[in-house]
Parts: sequence; C-alpha cells; structure tokens
Amino acid sequence: MADSLQLPPEHWLDFLACQSEQTYNTRRYLFRRIGLRSGVVVEPGCGAGAALADLLKTRPELTAIGVDIDPTVLRAAPEGIERIVAPAEKLPLADSIADAVLFHFSLMWVNPRQALAEAFRILKPRGHLILAGEPDYGGMLSHPDPGDKKTMVSKLRRGIARVNGDPDLGRRIGELASGAGFEVLETGMASKPRRYGKENLEELAKLFRFRQMFHPRSTTIWERFARKSAQRNGYLEFLPVFYLLGKKA
Ligand SMILES: C[S@@+](CC[C@H](N)C(=O)[O-])C[C@H]1O[C@@H](n2cnc3c(N)ncnc32)[C@H](O)[C@@H]1O
Repeated sequence: MADSLQLPPEHWLDFLACQSEQTYNTRRYLFRRIGLRSGVVVEPGCGAGAALADLLKTRPELTAIGVDIDPTVLRAAPEGIERIVAPAEKLPLADSIADAVLFHFSLMWVNPRQALAEAFRILKPRGHLILAGEPDYGGMLSHPDPGDKKTMVSKLRRGIARVNGDPDLGRRIGELASGAGFEVLETGMASKPRRYGKENLEELAKLFRFRQMFHPRSTTIWERFARKSAQRNGYLEFLPVFYLLGKKA
C-alpha cells in the first residue's frame, strides 16, 4: 500500500506510529474487557506491528502473529511478533487457532467481507474480534474550513478510493461484523476532536504529509489554510474512528 502511495518508508512508519497513538486507550480498554492474558492474537494488515507491540508490553505471555501483504513494512515489526507475508483475505493459518483477531486501520484497505470470513475461520469458538479503529472520512469535520470543505474532503475520499481503500468503512463495521457471523458486543468511537495550534504544527504537517499521497493539489491548499488557522486561533479536526468488539458464538 505504501508502495502504491509512493510514500517514503520513514514517513509511512512515522504516520503509522502517530495513528496508533490515537487508539491506544481504546485498545487497552478492549483487551482489558476480554481479559486475554495468554493465547494467540492475530492481526491481519498489521503494518509495522504498532498495535501488537503495544499489546505485548502489557501482556508478554501472548503469542502475537502479524500478517501483512507488504514485506517491507512487516520487516519493521519489532522482535517478538511472528511475521507472515500474506493477504488478509486468505490467511495461511489453520482453523480455530486464534483467541483474538485484531484489525487496526486495515479493514478499509482490504476486502472486508473476505477478511472477516477469514477472521471467523481462524478464531476459536468464543474467540474475540477486535476492530480497534476504522475511520470514516465521509463524516469528517474541519474547522474553520477553507470555504470548500466538502470539495476537500470529497477529493480526499476519492483519492483513497483510487488506491482501493474504502474511505467510509467506519460506519459499516457493525453490519460487516454481524454479516460475517459475529455477535456484536460493543461499538463506539476511538477518536476525539483534535485541536492544532502553534505548539503542534509538526503533527499537523505529518497528517497532511499522509493526505498528500491521495490528492496532492487540494491537500496543499488545505494544509496552507489549516496551518495559518492553527497559527492564528487554532485549527480543529474530527475524523470519526469507530471501534467494535465482537465474539464468535
Ligand atoms: C494503514 S496500514 C495499518 C497498519 C497497522 N494495522 C497499524 O495500525 O499500524 C494498512 C496496512 O494494511 C496492509 N494491507 C493492505 N492490503 C492488504 C491485504 N489485502 N492483506 C493484508 N494486508 C494488507 C498494508 O500493507 C498496510 O500495512
């Protein structure tokens, strides 16, 4: 994916690290709720394994298996994570081997029905599905907006769709999980509105560096505007990122 986006690897890893900070508390809450201390957790589309690495810090007895289609990003996953290069839609793993399957900002980039069917297959009975964060760009808010926010956001959404992502997947996670046979135990919001001011302009730059890959021209205008607003009175963004906890009955 980073390949198709032509994002320099260091920027890509940097972005993944920033993105996973957002959902840290949600992931902690969900793993606490399922109470899993030992056993097997599989993350399809794990990237550089940011979420699994966090999990192993507090639950070192777990076996963490990270699966990604991109061997380059997977190579950056820390030791302690078992790495498998494979598509989320066809996991080279046996039936009923996992206690939990985690997706984190990845369902929007894969075929969600096939990936969830695979998650269901590899989960043990009563195993958990954790969708720790799936964004919904269609519900995005930016304030103040450059006057044509709808155009900016819709260009970003079209750019994501051009590289085979589903920008509005967040709102559909409930129907997708239950369609795959999971009992949905809980859904909620993993993100909060974010305010950018003079003190965090570098973070704003990272965010737009990522967006730049999807629609360079409109992103440049949008970023200039957001930066000026941040320096003046502050710039606010809210990208809804949904979570879901499910169970294989
Ligand atoms: C936005 S990144 C998220 C990575 C990681 N889950 C995280 O939160 O840091 C999406 C990841 O999905 C991977 N990916 C895209 N299509 C895939 C597929 N069909 N099967 C497995 N992984 C895929 C990409 O290579 C990328 O590493």
